Amino acid sequence: MLAGKRILLVISGGIAAYKSLDLIRRLRERGASVRCVLTRAAKEFVTPLAVETLSRERAYDELFDLTAEHEIGHIRLARDCDIVVVAPATANILAGMAQGFAGDLATTVLLATDRPVLAAPAMNYVMWANPATVANIETLRLRGVSFVGPETGELAEGETGAGRMSEPLAIVDAIEKRLSVDAPLSGTRAIVTSGPTYEPIDPVRYIANRSSGKQGHAIATALAALGAETTLVSGPTRLADPPGCRVVHVETAQQMLAASLSALPADVAVCAAAVADWRPAHPGNAKLKKTEGGVPPGIALAENPDILATLSRHAQRPRLVVGFAAETENLLAHAAAKRQRKGCDWIVANDVGEGTGTFGGDCNRVHVIDGAGTESWDPMGKDEVARRLARRIAAAIAGAA
Ligand code: C5P
Repeated sequence: MLAGKRILLVISGGIAAYKSLDLIRRLRERGASVRCVLTRAAKEFVTPLAVETLSRERAYDELFDLTAEHEIGHIRLARDCDIVVVAPATANILAGMAQGFAGDLATTVLLATDRPVLAAPAMNYVMWANPATVANIETLRLRGVSFVGPETGELAEGETGAGRMSEPLAIVDAIEKRLSVDAPLSGTRAIVTSGPTYEPIDPVRYIANRSSGKQGHAIATALAALGAETTLVSGPTRLADPPGCRVVHVETAQQMLAASLSALPADVAVCAAAVADWRPAHPGNAKLKKTEGGVPPGIALAENPDILATLSRHAQRPRLVVGFAAETENLLAHAAAKRQRKGCDWIVANDVGEGTGTFGGDCNRVHVIDGAGTESWDPMGKDEVARRLARRIAAAIAGAA
């Protein structure tokens, strides 16, 4: 269940930090990858070298470490994972989390993450019982943070009470449990098409469009984050391969169709790619030559396959097929007609008219059209559109099961 999962382990400064080394080992044994962030105090208890040796990844500790910022920014660090685990979680870091402090890398990452957070508190029993800590835990629980432990037993100072960090195996179990709650699409397969297609005119020229792939890539990321085994069929983009997906890179519509069909069977298909409707019918094997004063060549076009319509009518049709409609006018009417024509279940309509900044931008305003009607969403980031759409997909799949 943890195989392939990416865990960001925040180690804060308590004596229980020595158990975090064993936790790293246990998580890796189960096939998870572990990347660690250490607070300044944590380094008094465990060394970055020990953490790096066990995790086989660089250990991160300083917010303003320029090399780290260059290699991987703190925002990416906060999000390139399936779960953030704080173990041990001292009273101090829990207070920082509850207050939203971002004074060091650990708290910054915790403030910047959009992943589930699990904390394993460890502190003296009087500190654990202090109303300040009790209130902080309550605040964090309400915000969705989950907790494992602390256990009651002998504490490091020789006193007995509640405050001992849970054992590594109990933390591993809690991580598995939390991930399964957050993975409503686990056991399902998804296909996402994204980006533009390039249709060759000759070996150097092609017909393309302005799609950045941002929305499609974000949807693949969001579906994978909910546990779907996701194949992203991507046209040429400038984007990095999203985490947790199998990515098939293609150039033409015909290649995109072939790659999408080979990813069947699937439970869900989301066609977010801006597929060229036509391709040059007879792409040249050699570069077309310009002749002085000659007549410019005409390019005969052939129709491309429609991937969305093909998947919608396929014998192995996914249970849910979602298309996109980028329109510049009569958005809703055109999109609703497209849903019928293509045979898909939902159409996500977005206005790409001049001035909307949708193409290549980070924001999107969409309307989701299904058999029941139209749901208009407020303008929001493409990542947020993707997460909402993925949750809507998960609910539909669960409802149909
Ligand atoms: O017909 P139109 O291109 O506007 O339809 C857009 C929807 O159809 C998008 O979901 C797009 O990914 C999909 N499509 C496709 N194959 C094509 C053309 C469009 O999958 N050849």
